Amino acid sequence: MSTNSSTLNFDGRSVELPVKNGTIGPSVVDISKLYGQTGAFTYDPGFTSTASCESKITYIDGDAGVLLYRGYPIEQLAEHGDFLETCYLLLYGELPTAAQKADFDYRVTRHTMVHDQMNRFFQGFRRDAHPMAIMVASVGALSAFYHDSTDISDPQQRMIASMRMIAKMPTLAAMAYKYSVGQPFVYPQNDLDYTSNFLRMCFAVPCEEYKVNPVLSRALDRIFILHADHEQNASTSTVRLAGSSGANPFACIAAGIACLWGPAHGGANEAALKMLEEIGTPDRIPQYIAKAKDKNDPFRLMGFGHRVYKNYDPRARIMQKTTHEVLNELGIKDDPLLDVAVELEQIALKDEYFLEKKLYPNIDFYSGITLKAMGFPTSMFTVLFALARTVGWIAQWSEMIEDPSQRIGRPRQLYIGSPKRDYVTVAQRG
Ligand code: CMC
Repeated sequence: MSTNSSTLNFDGRSVELPVKNGTIGPSVVDISKLYGQTGAFTYDPGFTSTASCESKITYIDGDAGVLLYRGYPIEQLAEHGDFLETCYLLLYGELPTAAQKADFDYRVTRHTMVHDQMNRFFQGFRRDAHPMAIMVASVGALSAFYHDSTDISDPQQRMIASMRMIAKMPTLAAMAYKYSVGQPFVYPQNDLDYTSNFLRMCFAVPCEEYKVNPVLSRALDRIFILHADHEQNASTSTVRLAGSSGANPFACIAAGIACLWGPAHGGANEAALKMLEEIGTPDRIPQYIAKAKDKNDPFRLMGFGHRVYKNYDPRARIMQKTTHEVLNELGIKDDPLLDVAVELEQIALKDEYFLEKKLYPNIDFYSGITLKAMGFPTSMFTVLFALARTVGWIAQWSEMIEDPSQRIGRPRQLYIGSPKRDYVTVAQRG
């Protein structure tokens, strides 16, 4: 990494700030010594100009619509790879050899069951609990079940915790779904691949034989690849910040799940489908486009726009193709929601407002239609996102823990409250 410097003139003084260059992408001005040199902080709400860390995992070029995991384009991984291979790549930095892949798949598979006491934990929830609430709680609760993998200073324990979470997320997610529909939990079946096993745990019932549809399994596996990591987004930054205090990995991932739940982040897939259902028919689209453009209306087109992509989200293109494959496989010829989505996309992509603000469909625009066709209720959409993103969170968390320069994350602020004043007793307050 080469460095040069930039000069900041502040308060009559001139300060040299090192500039660091990455392998690709924008350089960063290193302001870590700025406070010591000037007594001033930087101010960047929403972190639009702030790099919070160095990372070797994921690269996004938002203007060009490029997403790379460890240097590999997302399109190639989604086309040729599988999800567990992507997990290996994100965690270890290289694609596995055949032997490494077989070993990794075996190790993940051997951790799919959850402690049986977790069943009782589930019984404590109302049946209508949102599955994301159950996921926040149950993943956090793993730290109370697996004490032998919570010492973050031990690389072996960190590795076991990582394997456990990648392996148990599908089991917990399927349990959350089964609990909501009042069906018995289905135990994992380890001769199935990761995604087929998940489909079976969600949709099999004890009274019938369940055959995994390979087309749907492959499509869902691809959806998991698309969601596996996305650089320093809100939930990943949450995981890193939680981890910077030394919290155990299960607690950190639970924090990430909580952050992902919001409609501006992972909750957008659920919100996008609800929006398409609310629009209902293509003739109502102009009314919703007008709402989205109205400054006095808080409505936004869900599944549109992205903090980083100012071009078509590369994941959205693959997602759109996957949607068609799934609908074809299921023999769904006319899906009114798909009609609305296609028409809405066409109209928005030609509209001056969306063009000027560089608002393009993101991954969440089509994922809801696909997951709904597969049989998942809307409340499960963000759970599936969390399941897939777990590996990204873990890879980013591990990278941070292994970084010798890592310190607790502690942002500062611009204080705009009252200056110092003296306490007044209740009797004296006017
Ligand atoms: N519909 C209508 N207008 C929009 C939209 C939208 N979906 N998104 C942004 N805008 C407008 C916004 O009103 C603002 O206009 P102005 O400059 O006149 O005030 C401008 O575009 C910039 O928006 P912003 O809120 O400053 O942009 P941001 O980078 O802070 O927000 C976002 C990014 C993704 C939160 C936002 O685009 C959004 O709310 N989109 C809908 C929710 C969504 O689909 N989220 C999923 C993101 S992809 C999956 C993930 O990573 O979790």
